[in-house]
Amino acid sequence: MMHQAHVTIAGAGFYVPPRVVTNNDLSQRLETDDEWIVQRTGIRQRHLVEESVTTTDLATRAAWAALDQSGTAAEEIDLVIVATSTPDDRFPSTAARVQHAIGATHAAAFDLSAACSGFVYATAVGSQWIETGCFRNALVVGVDVFSRIVDWRDRRTAILFGDGAGAVLLRRTEKPYPYYLSLGADGSGGELLRAPMGGPVSMNGTEVYKFGVRIIPSLLQEALQALHLTIDDLALVIPHQANARIIESAAKKGGYPFEKFFLNVDRYGNTSAASIPIALTEALQQKVVREGDLVAMIGFGGGLTWGIHVLSVYAR
Ligand code: COA
Repeated sequence: MMHQAHVTIAGAGFYVPPRVVTNNDLSQRLETDDEWIVQRTGIRQRHLVEESVTTTDLATRAAWAALDQSGTAAEEIDLVIVATSTPDDRFPSTAARVQHAIGATHAAAFDLSAACSGFVYATAVGSQWIETGCFRNALVVGVDVFSRIVDWRDRRTAILFGDGAGAVLLRRTEKPYPYYLSLGADGSGGELLRAPMGGPVSMNGTEVYKFGVRIIPSLLQEALQALHLTIDDLALVIPHQANARIIESAAKKGGYPFEKFFLNVDRYGNTSAASIPIALTEALQQKVVREGDLVAMIGFGGGLTWGIHVLSVYAR
């Protein structure tokens, strides 16, 4: 595996629908309460779409935001990848719709499905095509609208998820920068977290919890070892925002300082493929991550799938 690549995150943006649904709002229709949800998950509220809003709408707004922030014109984009498990249609892909909506007239476009790991899988694909010299600018969007696929009568799953979209612009750099990538899958765990065609999300919460706590520190250790770095060399770890308790236990298990892990699950819930780019954008806005910094993005979820991607931000 290569430890350097000519690729950086040149910009990021996100969009969440304006409607905020708090834990107390949920307790009006489900047998649950704010205290239970906060204690077990760290989630306080989530944003949910109105009926008329599509996955493409959210993805397009996030794409605009990332382009804006990176100062890139839509015509300069060579590739659009949208990671999603909740596309509007089987085809055309969400990516093709986004490509058209933003006017990325020179871009190839396709969707990628790897559930909550989708964004890391997609930045892996985009960055590798950039490294080969095939493309210069790749727009990678993570978007999911789980409010359309959860069973709103099931308190064990409905409380966990929120809707949203996030995007990054990956760009080729002149010089190589530190880079690490590791992806994995174990289809034998497929039933642990599943959304069948036409059916709602089902989950074995306990097993998925254990999987998250195990895989996050294991991926991080692998990446740091390979790069001959310590946790202090990373500006930030951006884990998939499934659950604050998973992230806290994972940090503890690996012996990593919890402050290194970005957390915003309290405000958005688990937005699946969108959670990492939303978190990354907020980290950039808060200046927790600055020009030339290294970040580690860690995804895990349905499949089962997992992945870590370490790369630089705003490098030239
Ligand atoms: N409100 C109140 N009570 C609830 C509840 C809710 N929203 N959901 C479940 N309960 C109840 C259960 O019915 C159970 O009651 P019982 O003992 O009377 O049967 C009790 O709380 C404990 O349930 P359990 O499932 O053992 O809770 P838990 O401590 O494992 O927490 C999760 C449940 C879902 C929070 C936890 O398993 C988890 O975070 N899993 C990972 C989920 C995840 O991140 N998935 C996405 C990964 S990409």
